[in-house]
Amino acid sequence: MIENQWYAVLPSRAVRNNAVLGATRLGMQLVFFRDAGGALGCVSDRCTHRGAALSKGKVVDGCVQCPFHGLRFDTRGQCTQVPADGAFSTENLSRFDVAHHPVVEHAGIVYVWYGEASKAVGEPPFFSDQVDSSYVFSEMEDLWNAHYSRCIENQLDVVHLPFVHHNTIGRGNKTLVNGPKVLFENGALITSANNEIDNGQQPLERDQCVIKDTYLTFRFPNIWVNHISEKIKVLIYFAPVDEAHTVLYIRFYCKITGIRPLDGLIAWFGKFANGVIERQDKRVVITQMPKASSYISNENLLAGDYPIITYRRLREELKAAAIARPRTH
Ligand code: FES
Ligand SMILES: [Fe+2]
Repeated sequence: MIENQWYAVLPSRAVRNNAVLGATRLGMQLVFFRDAGGALGCVSDRCTHRGAALSKGKVVDGCVQCPFHGLRFDTRGQCTQVPADGAFSTENLSRFDVAHHPVVEHAGIVYVWYGEASKAVGEPPFFSDQVDSSYVFSEMEDLWNAHYSRCIENQLDVVHLPFVHHNTIGRGNKTLVNGPKVLFENGALITSANNEIDNGQQPLERDQCVIKDTYLTFRFPNIWVNHISEKIKVLIYFAPVDEAHTVLYIRFYCKITGIRPLDGLIAWFGKFANGVIERQDKRVVITQMPKASSYISNENLLAGDYPIITYRRLREELKAAAIARPRTH
């Protein structure tokens, strides 16, 4: 994990009013719930009294209530009530507070801050320049037995297309990989496939290639868009569960007709097409070892892996920057 980042972890719709959602994300057991005004809270799924799971509790007056002895915690994790001590107890309840994680919602996605809470600033990563309210989207999800870094790399991998997707998006036996061109602009990693049928020619160098009309864009730490055309995009956020599991939330965005119910229907069908392609990837990616990728590794990378090498290098730089401390004199 890269520290001090907003991670997309859940769709907003998964956290309903007056309901408690327990989920393992970012290697932590977490509880999500909403206060009376609908504002989201994310706290540790472990009661500080005697260790029961708060996710088995319920929402009372905008707080999560432990199922065991009824302690209540607000969206900032502060204990608001210890029923056994009586409603008029004057005890300071702060010793019961549970760990709280900064959380924001944007574009129907729940983002959790991983790192030092005091540094939780800035906009969560999204693609406002790619998708806006003129699109309709349909979303599916799937749990992979893979580290999130492998899932992301798979979506930056142009070499796998004619093999993993030989009968779908990789049809045509274009096994020769030109470039690929890779850009890093305004915090986004951009690349596109420039593959060709192998007729004995030499692959083109990266700087001989261009970013095509269909291209991939990735933003750290875990969100990606495939710009298929002006009117169709596929967006994925890769929610890290633990060291060996990731939930992929895959959205099919459409504005082909400009008629929202019709675009919604196309997006709904598009979601199933995404599912077919995603399962082709999943079948192979879950076999990769070691589970997490790293910049320094024993893998024998090739020129076509350059988007993945770039991802690993930038990830390493962000990790190092997150733990760097200002020098003190
Ligand atoms: S364990 Fe939660 S209230 Fe006792
Ligand atoms: Fe793929």
